[in-house]
Amino acid sequence: MNEQDNDLIESNQGDEPLSNHSDNPHFSTILEKRLSRRQVLTGSLSAAVVGILGLPGLLADAQAKKHPSTTGLPVPPKPSFTLNPTLNFKAVPVTRSDTVTIPAGYKAQVIIPWGTPITGNYPAYAPDASNSGTDQEQQVGAHHDGMHYFPFEDNPNGHGLLVVNHEYVDPNILHTHGPTLVDGQRPADEVRKEIAAHGVSVVELEKEPANGDWKVVNGPYNRRITAGTPMEIRGPARGSDLVKTKYSPNGTEARGTINNCGHGYTPWGTYLTCEENWAGYFVNRTPRPREHSRYGVSTSNSRYRWDTAQGGADEYVRFDASTKESNATKDYRNEPNTQGWIVEIDPFDPSAKPIKRTAMGRFAHEGCWVAPPQPGKPVVFYSGDDAQNEYIYKFVTKARYHKDVRGDILDEGTLYVARFNEDGTGEWLPLDINNRYFHAMSLSKGIFFLDQADVLVNTRLAADVVGATKMDRPEWGAVHPQTYEVYMTLTNNSSRTESGIDAANPRAPNSYGHIIRWQEQGNQPWATKFKWDIFVLAGPEGDSQVLPELGGPALTPDNIFASPDGLWIDQNGILWIQTDMSGSQQSSGPFGNNQMLAANPFTGEIKRFFVGAEDCEVTGVVSTPDGKNLFVNIQHPGDRSAPNSFTSNWPDHGNIFAHPGDPVVIANPSGARPRSATVVVTREDGGSVGM
Ligand code: FEO
Ligand code: CA
Ligand code: CA
Repeated sequence: MNEQDNDLIESNQGDEPLSNHSDNPHFSTILEKRLSRRQVLTGSLSAAVVGILGLPGLLADAQAKKHPSTTGLPVPPKPSFTLNPTLNFKAVPVTRSDTVTIPAGYKAQVIIPWGTPITGNYPAYAPDASNSGTDQEQQVGAHHDGMHYFPFEDNPNGHGLLVVNHEYVDPNILHTHGPTLVDGQRPADEVRKEIAAHGVSVVELEKEPANGDWKVVNGPYNRRITAGTPMEIRGPARGSDLVKTKYSPNGTEARGTINNCGHGYTPWGTYLTCEENWAGYFVNRTPRPREHSRYGVSTSNSRYRWDTAQGGADEYVRFDASTKESNATKDYRNEPNTQGWIVEIDPFDPSAKPIKRTAMGRFAHEGCWVAPPQPGKPVVFYSGDDAQNEYIYKFVTKARYHKDVRGDILDEGTLYVARFNEDGTGEWLPLDINNRYFHAMSLSKGIFFLDQADVLVNTRLAADVVGATKMDRPEWGAVHPQTYEVYMTLTNNSSRTESGIDAANPRAPNSYGHIIRWQEQGNQPWATKFKWDIFVLAGPEGDSQVLPELGGPALTPDNIFASPDGLWIDQNGILWIQTDMSGSQQSSGPFGNNQMLAANPFTGEIKRFFVGAEDCEVTGVVSTPDGKNLFVNIQHPGDRSAPNSFTSNWPDHGNIFAHPGDPVVIANPSGARPRSATVVVTREDGGSVGM
């Protein structure tokens, strides 16, 4: 029997179901205010406003700020920042080609597609997907997402470690004939391969002086971290009853990191990988505790049914979180509680165990973005919980920054959740069992926590308790390196209703998404109050607006987009915006394929720079320190809804990139599997990308 089971096929969406049923206010009582606000939003761009656009109010004092030094780090000092970047390229039009489209004057190279051998025996990629689970453990994983480039000091712009997340897998592509179930069980090697295609790749790269191409160095830094790699649990949840399992009866260790979406990095040169839609990988067929139900752990089947693997090995059975034995140290009821964290990885030490930093909270972490550290001050990380009506968080370390701090600084601090007020102010609410406000709110709602570990394992519930603002799916954040202003994408929210609108989430349903930004009081990232506004309401020409508070313009054919997701501010101050539109939004909307746009945060100018291959998501962007080599990830090109009938064959079809108007010549259309990969974009004249 070799049955094809549609339930096994990734839904092409990757999102968790709505699981926030808390009674937090949606601010419907102030609908009137919102309506008057919307009248402002629809105003046209007046001459007076054009003048203002040059220097939005929130950024008015930006010129006075200096980027702090980051002494003692493996990352070399960044060049001085240009606060007002030129976007000196011709916008790429809406495009639907099965290739990457970049502006005239640019070129692109593809590196480390799924299956590239990087370690061990270096097993060659098998184009028919016949590589085994063992092979996959030594090859680049699937579905590239967040990534960071760690330069070597000797040649920072030509030699570095690229660390890449692998968010999930499409079994129709991963296996020759798609996924199989045999008498209700998954073949063990299929499961092993899927687990190995998740996680993180650390890849040493070098730029060849002769031709400027980047190549993989088969060196000792290369590493695969997977959904099965042993990890340590640190911070307040370490040793808690809630994370004790048969694998780690004392609650100090866990296996694997799952659904690594966005990412972060630390000032001390480590990588942060973020566990996003992990809940669906588990099943619990017994009554679910709140730390399962509030996150949507399945009650019927796990996402890929890893728990059913033939042979019943412990490493697969653990995905069944049903209560089976007399206590938690004899089964895997707590296995889901070991996921949902920020994981710190030292890319320069291949033997270092990844560490789950539990003080930073447990939710569907999109990513984790540090504010530029300041000597003698706390270090601050921002994070979003990407599910409908979930929250935005920040973590403030207890210890102060100095050049010798390392990851242990992440084990003690305060986790806050954001409330966006209607008047453009906001507050950070502490999720701290010793905080009197938190305690009072907990009492008033009748929701109790045993200790801080309980608060953190149940971060979503703790945030419900304090009345945080339900957001339209927080995706990536970016902290401006000079102004410290924070930008965050809110990708969309089909479940927001008119009565649920608030000023920070002003559209219902929010089909197109928007980008919100805030500046902390006193420009201090650790402040507990902030001011916010909306940078752009995404959408088509008839339903979009840049800088709505200032009455900015609608988007145009040069920059219409929807479902913003990836976000990064580069060395030159360019805000890069990446999109993750669903297949239907790509096919029914005016936006074309998923894309990446460049924006000037000060003027609100936005221009489409890059369009991805058919049906892909464009996610993950970083450059070399000189800004001349831009790494961009293409995730899951092509329709993957059936095995062996791929609508895209990028990049193996032979046409890696094109310029607008170029014919897309497919050299090898004969059924090659589409592969997630990293694209390196450079300027033909060797200049800074986007400038
Ligand atoms: Fe994995 Fe929220 O995107
Ligand atoms: Ca994302
Ligand atoms: Ca997304």
